[in-house]
Amino acid sequence: MKEFILITGATSGIGYEMALQLAAQKYPLILVARRAGKLDQMKQDLSHKYGIDVRYYVKDLSIPHEAIDLFDDIRSDGLLVSHLVNNAGFGTYGSILKTPIEEEMDMINLNISSLYVLTKLFAKDMAARKSGKIMNVASLLSFIPFPYYAVYSATKSFVLAFSETIAAELEGTGVVVTTLCPGTVETPFHTPNMRKTNAMNANKPMPADVVAKAGVELLLHGKGKKIVGFNNWFISNLPRITPDFLMMKIKKNLASLKH
Ligand SMILES: NC(=O)c1ccc[n+]([C@@H]2O[C@H](COP(=O)([O-])OP(=O)(O)OC[C@H]3O[C@@H](n4cnc5c(N)ncnc54)[C@H](OP(=O)(O)O)[C@@H]3O)[C@@H](O)[C@H]2O)c1
Repeated sequence: MKEFILITGATSGIGYEMALQLAAQKYPLILVARRAGKLDQMKQDLSHKYGIDVRYYVKDLSIPHEAIDLFDDIRSDGLLVSHLVNNAGFGTYGSILKTPIEEEMDMINLNISSLYVLTKLFAKDMAARKSGKIMNVASLLSFIPFPYYAVYSATKSFVLAFSETIAAELEGTGVVVTTLCPGTVETPFHTPNMRKTNAMNANKPMPADVVAKAGVELLLHGKGKKIVGFNNWFISNLPRITPDFLMMKIKKNLASLKH
């Protein structure tokens, strides 16, 4: 059976750049997102340019069961996933008293539930074959949860905790689980209000292709977790040397809108 790298959230930002870089290395790809037109365009472009097999599935992974449907569809199409990249995700910004409950429930379904389902189902297959790699995309906020990104930060803390613990459980099975932890990245992820925060103004976002390169390296050859960029690594360690009250004060200021 032909082996594929599956990338969720492949139509934009980090996932899109990873797809381009993996295609350039001639890896057959399965792309997943909601925008059928964009997926079809990518299939045409990448298969034409690199002569690789590109498949796609249109799924809204914020809908419970679409992740299970995706797994079933791939299986019934007879495709083998050697590498899984759980990248699709989004965030909301604002006071918990004001952010829309439906949007946050969608976020929890996408960032947590679908990532969990795909990881579990594909990990079982990979373990049975004694070979496979899974990379989950977490965030710098997995280490330093920010006010006004409360639900998003919590989803990314889940991703890190889940990925690191199962990576240890799966040692020796042939299945390697890694976690990519980007800081701020220049992608359409950011809403206009996110772009007005002190944090966005103080810290220049990294280009998506640079983060994708770190992701591709971690996926293909890495172990454990990768915090992308020295500054972000340093920031992720600040809670170890900073009292909680001060850390939260700094984070609240950084996450506030710039005046
Ligand atoms: N940008 C940052 O600063 C940053 C920092 C740390 C971590 N991250 C994480 O990196 C990952 C990628 O983010 P990005 O910055 O590249 O964002 P992005 O440019 O907005 O891309 C998000 C991707 O996810 C897909 N997606 C969104 N909702 C979906 C849904 N319900 N079902 C299926 N696919 C869906 C989108 O495609 P469609 O619209 O076609 O569905 C798109 O391909 C996310 O997990 C994010 O949390 C981002």
